[in-house]
Amino acid sequence: MSDQPLLLGIDVGTSSTKAVLIRLDGTVVATAAPEYKFHTPKPLWAESDPEDWWEASIQAIRQVIRKGGVNGESIAAIGLTGQMHGLVLLGSKGEVLRPCIMWNDQRTAEECAEITTSVGADKVLSITGNPVLPGFTAPKIAWVKKHEPTVFAKIKHILLPKDYVRYRLSGELAMDVADGSGTSLMEVGSRKWSAEMVDATGVDPKWLPPLMESVEISGHLSEEAAIATGLKAGIPIAAGAGDQAAQAVGSGIFEEGKISATFGTSGVVFAHSKEFRVEPEGNLHAFCSAVPGEWHLMGVMLSAAGSFQWFRNALGRTELALEEQGRGKAYDLLVEKAASVPAGCEGLLFLPYLSGERTPYPDPLARGAFIGLTLRHAKGHMVRSVLEGITFGMNDSLQLMTHLGIQPEEVVVSGGGAQNPFWRQMMADVFAQRVVTVNATEGAAFGAALLGGVCSGHYPDVATACKSTIQNTAEASPGVDAELYGRLYPRYRALYPALKDEFHATSKMFLD
Ligand code: XUL
Repeated sequence: MSDQPLLLGIDVGTSSTKAVLIRLDGTVVATAAPEYKFHTPKPLWAESDPEDWWEASIQAIRQVIRKGGVNGESIAAIGLTGQMHGLVLLGSKGEVLRPCIMWNDQRTAEECAEITTSVGADKVLSITGNPVLPGFTAPKIAWVKKHEPTVFAKIKHILLPKDYVRYRLSGELAMDVADGSGTSLMEVGSRKWSAEMVDATGVDPKWLPPLMESVEISGHLSEEAAIATGLKAGIPIAAGAGDQAAQAVGSGIFEEGKISATFGTSGVVFAHSKEFRVEPEGNLHAFCSAVPGEWHLMGVMLSAAGSFQWFRNALGRTELALEEQGRGKAYDLLVEKAASVPAGCEGLLFLPYLSGERTPYPDPLARGAFIGLTLRHAKGHMVRSVLEGITFGMNDSLQLMTHLGIQPEEVVVSGGGAQNPFWRQMMADVFAQRVVTVNATEGAAFGAALLGGVCSGHYPDVATACKSTIQNTAEASPGVDAELYGRLYPRYRALYPALKDEFHATSKMFLD
């Protein structure tokens, strides 16, 4: 049993709630992630039962205490994070009025248009930093008003998913500004609720919880929750942050110049920003950061590593068979093939819009393509062009950020591809930036635990928390291929505008 103070991060995710228990030096003591399902009662809908999050939170906390072999009393603080944008509605007794309408629910196109028309698109962008998007919270409230008036009439409180878990842990109603930024109800520049957006959505301002900075103490663990979880009553709970902002803290992105690029199934490029900057077309999300008084910008690519997975499944049968025979991982075997052909693939380019795109082209009908095939091109060229296309796609977000005045010092890369030296070098060459990987790989829950440590005074600020726990593990600097990629990138950039109308015409022929 260890009596050293420990920090607990809880990430209320889409399909599981993850708990991470860490020491002050960042060593991970234990993790647990009990799962649940979300529901799709109709096409485009995605709903979740807040009671599932609470049950999973209790289990996750009990599991990390048990797995870590620690005394629950040694846990000094909690930080919360979770899926953003989800609408949780509570009635007068704190009861949940209907299932949460989640971030990936797409039912509200009409309500987005109505709110945008009533406030004005330019004003929405300057107030909230973003367009009103179907995944965001405000249009969901407007939807409930229109379609479920009896539920709407009972609303007393509006929360985001992790804020519901906070309510059960502490009895407090609160929201942090980082997660609040994704509601479309905030003045993101001045970090407060926007009277104009609140009014246009039909929200009673009394329903909104107080907004806090992510490192502030939002409440203390209640006696009842202490009994349920095995933790000590009275420990502080940090306001916390939405999953992207907490993930940034958990990868050491805490000051301007620091950027992360996560090559997951979808790709996220995330830049810390000392100022409130808005991309004029609204193509980057502009949200408050978990660092008090600062902001971040975020670009999302829908099929990043997902494009490589598609290639492996569709055209990597041989490599998958070799993997089954224990002769290496299919992904590694494919990257070896990619490394056997020159940068630029002798004129072959790949567009990674396999599920449409979000940044820099918010276009569900954008499509993937190989462009420039000749008889000379073999499988190695095709794999390499897929990796190059994905990396160019991530570079699109990075370029939008540098146009807004962000000067990257280095890019923290993560996801499977970042662990591969060949692809990591390609990232440095395409970005024309030094790229690094870091030791911290537990993501948002780890960042939340650090926010807990700041709220309890174990670290003076987010920067110290990151510096005390996160170190670089590998790096790559722009090398010989950077010059060629610098010339090829504009050719890649020119392809979507040239093909857009054809993508639309062809994909519409095959819709429904
Ligand atoms: C952020 C976003 C996702 C969700 C689910 O804008 O939509 O990160 O928070 O993880």
